[in-house]
Amino acid sequence: MAIMKVENVTKKFGELVAVDNVSLEVKKEETLGIIGPNGAGKTTLFNVISGEMKPTSGKVIFRDVDITGKRPSKIVKLGLVKTFQIMRVFGEMTVLENIIAVNPDGVDILKDFNLWDKRDMKALDLPQGEMRKLGIAIAMATNPRMLLLDEPFSGLSPRECLELHRIIGRLREFGITMVIIEHKLKELFNEAERVICLNAGRILKEGTPEEVVRDPKVIEAYIGYSG
Ligand SMILES: Nc1ncnc2c1ncn2[C@@H]1O[C@H](COP(=O)(O)OP(=O)(O)OP(=O)(O)O)[C@@H](O)[C@H]1O
Ligand SMILES: [Mg+2]
Repeated sequence: MAIMKVENVTKKFGELVAVDNVSLEVKKEETLGIIGPNGAGKTTLFNVISGEMKPTSGKVIFRDVDITGKRPSKIVKLGLVKTFQIMRVFGEMTVLENIIAVNPDGVDILKDFNLWDKRDMKALDLPQGEMRKLGIAIAMATNPRMLLLDEPFSGLSPRECLELHRIIGRLREFGITMVIIEHKLKELFNEAERVICLNAGRILKEGTPEEVVRDPKVIEAYIGYSG
């Protein structure tokens, strides 16, 4: 059963077609991976889904509601959340203050994420891996059904990557549907049961991780593949 459907979405920036007539479905509780070379349109697709950008044409349906062009805050209320990048305003707040700002009843998530001991630290002072976890914790405090994660493994040490795998495993236990954009294919393929490869705004291939990386079109497009 689909929790989200992207129907013929196109996003143009002037002459540039960043997302070109993309249609896809995300099944309830699955973890879907999205790969593709730099500039393929992955982040733009997330921005359209999360409401930060209006598509030039096409539709996004989430839990049978047409969310196309709705405000991000409204989309978050429906349970679809893009994980948070810690930026200046929130960065000045402590870990605990960040969670409370989103949901006063959400503090238990910090214990689950091993962030409770860091609760009085300023968010911006956290090491990279823990800042990344806080971003996911803040998203979780909104009680989402589905999370969009854009390159969650980038810049993390091997030990931090392991911890993020543990967190993603917990999210799966909570029944959270996930879509993960990632260049670190080894990390992604540990999590995603299905993968879509985008190239020049279009879907090049969809299948299991093995099917996708073996596809000659994908190999040609995605020379950045490093295993
Ligand atoms: N706000 C914008 N205004 C104009 N062009 C944009 C904008 N955002 C993205 N683009 C362009 O759209 C194309 C797709 O960019 P996008 O960021 O979606 O790629 P991506 O697949 O996420 O790449 P990466 O793997 O490097 O993150 C690129 O050519 C990019 O330069
Ligand atoms: Mg991107």
